[in-house]
Amino acid sequence: MIAHTVTGLILAAGKGTRMKSARAKVLHEVFFKPMIHHVLDAVSPLHFDQTIVVTGHQAEMVEKACSGYPVAFARQDQQLGTGHAVLAAESVLGSSPGDVMILCGDTPLIRTETLRNMLSGHRAGCQALTVMTTYLDNPANYGRILPDGSGHIQAIVEEKDASPEQKEIKEINAGIYCVDKEFLFKALKGVGTDNKQGEIYLTDIIAIAHANGLRVQRFFCHHSIETLGINSRLELSLAHATLQKQLLHQLMDQGVTLISPETITVHGQVKVERDTIISPNVFISGNTTIGYNCRIAPFCYLRDCRLGDNVSIGAGCYLHGAQVGANENIDPHSRIIDQIEHI
Ligand code: UD1
Ligand code: MG
Repeated sequence: MIAHTVTGLILAAGKGTRMKSARAKVLHEVFFKPMIHHVLDAVSPLHFDQTIVVTGHQAEMVEKACSGYPVAFARQDQQLGTGHAVLAAESVLGSSPGDVMILCGDTPLIRTETLRNMLSGHRAGCQALTVMTTYLDNPANYGRILPDGSGHIQAIVEEKDASPEQKEIKEINAGIYCVDKEFLFKALKGVGTDNKQGEIYLTDIIAIAHANGLRVQRFFCHHSIETLGINSRLELSLAHATLQKQLLHQLMDQGVTLISPETITVHGQVKVERDTIISPNVFISGNTTIGYNCRIAPFCYLRDCRLGDNVSIGAGCYLHGAQVGANENIDPHSRIIDQIEHI
């Protein structure tokens, strides 16, 4: 029996024109790490046989940013569309039979569990192609899903090519696909550039599948926020806020009081014991542990700190690598650095 492989293919060659930036879009940070790391971290527990990142715009920088991950690269020298990006990876993908899970480097909120469910649904359905979709109240700028009348997908139409009626459709393409490799490349060779952007759209393979009598399965993502595609600075801030909110909700669930949580930043390996109260405009990061029943006054910065139980930190402190014993009070405006080895 020939092994059936699964390859992850992450499209990251685009410039990200709408970001209005000198930096490649996938290198912009979302919640303190490059956007593309979120996607790579989401796929890594899936243990694909191979993961390929398609690079192009600022390829060296993007490849360097991914160098800590077990990935191969394919170069797309000119950015002629998402379909063209997949074609650029054809030789790296090889010709052994298998499935390809295609993702975009600009969807940092996607979760491993969702991808895992999609992959098993794709396999169970035995179809050539599965597309992740969701509903959005404001579907602007996403590709719209055209249903075929029997519960499957007939085609995807991009916003720029959509008629006013099609723009009313609220089911959108998340830009994540599971597809049989052989079908993928056969179909892509039949995709033209007859669209408003003059690009080779990956999304055109859906209509090709349908025209060939193949059923296109949908995998519906119930948490639509996971499919957020970052094309602008506004969406970048929304992605950051979403991840920050999730972490702060976890802290509150564990018994920590956050006053005006929308003004508080917490990230890294931070652990906080219950009944601690964190005031507005506090920034906590790194490998920081905070004990039980502590009080952190407003405008404090804590990084790589260890605070015992019942500690009180006055307003406006700068603590980097500070070790504060149980029951101690730190005066407002204190600056403590390097008491413990930085990690
Ligand atoms: C794409 C989909 C759209 C979907 C949306 C989801 C197409 C034609 N459209 O639109 O249906 O709703 O994603 O977020 O696929 N890229 C390359 N090379 C290129 C062009 C793009 O590698 O030549 C990469 C980009 O770096 C990016 C990803 O592909 O990571 C998607 O490209 P983008 O321009 O953001 O497509 P959207 O307009 O968002
Ligand atoms: Mg996009």
